[in-house]
Amino acid sequence: MSTDFSRNAQLFERAQASIPGGVNSPVRAFRAVGGTPRFIARADGAYMWDAEGRQYIDYIGSWGPMILGHGHPAVLEAVLRAARDGFSFGAPTEREVELAEEIIRHVPSIEQVRLVSSGTEAAMSAIRLARGATGRSKLIKFEGCYHGHADALLVKAGSGLATFGHPTSAGVPPEVVQHTLVLRYNDIEQLEAAFATHGADLACVMIEPIAGNMNFVRASVPFVKRLRELCDQHGALLVFDEVMTGFRVALGSAQSVYARALPGFQPDLSVFGKVIGGGMPLAAFGTTRKIMQNLAPLGPVYQAGTLSGNPVATACGLATLREIAKPGFYEALGASTRSLVQGLQQAADEAGVPFASDCEGGMFGFFFGPRLPQNYDEVMATDKERFNRFFHAMLDRGVYLAPALYEAGFVSSAHTAQDIAATVQAAREALRAA
Ligand SMILES: Cc1ncc(COP(=O)(O)O)c(C=O)c1O
Repeated sequence: MSTDFSRNAQLFERAQASIPGGVNSPVRAFRAVGGTPRFIARADGAYMWDAEGRQYIDYIGSWGPMILGHGHPAVLEAVLRAARDGFSFGAPTEREVELAEEIIRHVPSIEQVRLVSSGTEAAMSAIRLARGATGRSKLIKFEGCYHGHADALLVKAGSGLATFGHPTSAGVPPEVVQHTLVLRYNDIEQLEAAFATHGADLACVMIEPIAGNMNFVRASVPFVKRLRELCDQHGALLVFDEVMTGFRVALGSAQSVYARALPGFQPDLSVFGKVIGGGMPLAAFGTTRKIMQNLAPLGPVYQAGTLSGNPVATACGLATLREIAKPGFYEALGASTRSLVQGLQQAADEAGVPFASDCEGGMFGFFFGPRLPQNYDEVMATDKERFNRFFHAMLDRGVYLAPALYEAGFVSSAHTAQDIAATVQAAREALRAA
């Protein structure tokens, strides 16, 4: 029982009576960093206010979607107008077509998309489609990548390379993950060996191209190049899970970042969420028209949803995509994010604290360690205790970072140079204290 009777603590105690752990998604409970979660009362632009009226500069942005900050006027207006016209019809709307066209316009690998309501649903459906289209069952994922909580994806590596994974969650029968092979991120040798053994049975390889669920770890260009080659050689589909990176790291998403280094590069399937909904429940998966023909009602792969393409969510997503497609948007967002990351790096260097940082577009990561990790084990070997002290020292100074060392951070277009400077100043103090 908490002895702190602040409003946040009171709410957290009350929440735990009616909601398991007091939260509707585990990371919100602050288990990784300890302490009392802040109950957010409202948000505007780059700021959030908790139930006690305390203000924070927000670097989680609802875990990625809020690329324009909170309550952007054009988005708010679009949502209000859509809500007045009706919340949900269970019948097609013009706005779904517009949103699909807008996604396709910016991502050349996609000819058709299907809209769904969450990243979990999109990733799960993409795998079903890949299996249906190839007639194969097996899939590869990488340790440290998260693709939502569908059964077949809650897996950790088996005891050896050629063995399949074990469930990471109770309630997932081993038979359900028996087709999922888990490999080390950025390990070309392991990838080649897995394809040599299982290539003919692989439906797909799913990857976060810039992994945001182990903080911020880029797939190396040689790794992505080899992945593309091996998928082509063996007839497996390459699935980019861009739920986090999609329209966040660039207008063309992470695949456009890799296409700069590997001309002509494209994944086969892509999964989106977060930014394309602008903060509303909306996600999507897409690929070529030929592969999409496998999907119901055209083909044998079943997939459906009562609220898919919801009219209010599509209004929110469409208004968001129209704002971020304006000239200069990503240049400005990238510059803000770089100035934040450089400022944090400099503050750590001045304090003599081992620190490594990276960013792309409006997404960033930092580690308490001397160099950027390349895989999950290396992320977990960074200094967790120092991260936790830093997190709380920053929170006390009004800066809301992700409450776990294995999560990425997000900057929005609403963050000003002053916000960044205030954050860096807070970091200077926090690093001295932590
Ligand atoms: C890369 C990635 N894929 C899938 C998901 C699942 O999305 P959702 O939480 O909307 O189900 C997430 C969520 O954070 C994610 O980061």
